[in-house]
Amino acid sequence: MQTLDLPQTSRAQQFDFNNFSFGETPTDHLFLAEYKGGNWSSLGVQPFQNLTLSPFALCFHYGQTVFEGMKAFRLADGSISIFRPDKHYDRLSKSLDRMSMPVLPRPLFLEGLTDVILQGQAWLPTDRTDIALYIRPFVIATEARLGVKVSSEYLFAVACTPIGEYYDKPLRVKVETQYARAAEGGAGYAKFGGNYGGAFYPTQKAVEAGFDQVIWTDAKTHECLEEAGTMNIMMYVHGTLVTPPVSSSILDGITRNSIIQIAKDLNIPFEERAISCKELQGNFKNGDRVELFGVGTAAIVSPIACVQIDDTDYFPFTETDAVMFTLKNELEAIRRGKKKDKHNWNYLI
Ligand code: COI
Repeated sequence: MQTLDLPQTSRAQQFDFNNFSFGETPTDHLFLAEYKGGNWSSLGVQPFQNLTLSPFALCFHYGQTVFEGMKAFRLADGSISIFRPDKHYDRLSKSLDRMSMPVLPRPLFLEGLTDVILQGQAWLPTDRTDIALYIRPFVIATEARLGVKVSSEYLFAVACTPIGEYYDKPLRVKVETQYARAAEGGAGYAKFGGNYGGAFYPTQKAVEAGFDQVIWTDAKTHECLEEAGTMNIMMYVHGTLVTPPVSSSILDGITRNSIIQIAKDLNIPFEERAISCKELQGNFKNGDRVELFGVGTAAIVSPIACVQIDDTDYFPFTETDAVMFTLKNELEAIRRGKKKDKHNWNYLI
């Protein structure tokens, strides 16, 4: 890998933080590390650049690509914090393990995040409480070999891009009962590329039919809600917050975990249990007030305004006094340093 001089000025100065789309603009830097001969070694922070790989690199062929989605925030006092990097590290390790990829040393992971974010602090304007830095750490198999095998070489990279609201309006979703995202015993809990690639076709069909997203159901019976691919799913009904338990087919969301903790801190009754399509339909048919929403790093807390189950549209509650917004505001206040961080979620750099 070529080492170039680091940029002295930031493109952030010319960036329009009022008008941008998620994921189009990288910050100025990239952190890289490589795995060769059974060891990881840091290549340090580099200017953001294209990667050069052999067309035989195994990541192009057999799916050994794993990533995380994380965020860094500018706190009210001007300092910068990464949200729950240890929890993300643990999940990344599980994903790597599931894909037979070597686990990164924790200090190397933290070094990569810290160095690239500190170099990119201009992308966290001090006067904007609606902007965060989205961090994309990823590991890919780089050994140049076409044979079907576990790669012996890897690249770890950390890239960043600014993020505001990922979804700019409440969502219209379809409960998907034909296609499945993941099956029990598969790799649905791992954050690896194939889970997203396999979701595109059914999601595209739903988008063509006027939906923003699908909610996946379990592959065996298609009776229970699983997750939405870009976010975990939660329901608030009869005064209780409910979410399906994580499993081999559901991603263990860090935002999901944080929202559950916040609900407990606020004494909001909480249940982790299956949510069946029948239960959801029954709630709507009884005229119950139902909140349905997604939670994820990019999505934060995203209200669902319309959910289609078996060709019938139902309309969850999305007014400003919905409980989901209390949970969202609490989460944002903690990670932007406006409320006490009693669980030590903010990792100051
Ligand atoms: C995340 O929320 O970090 C994800 O990986 C989902 C993707 C839609 C950005």
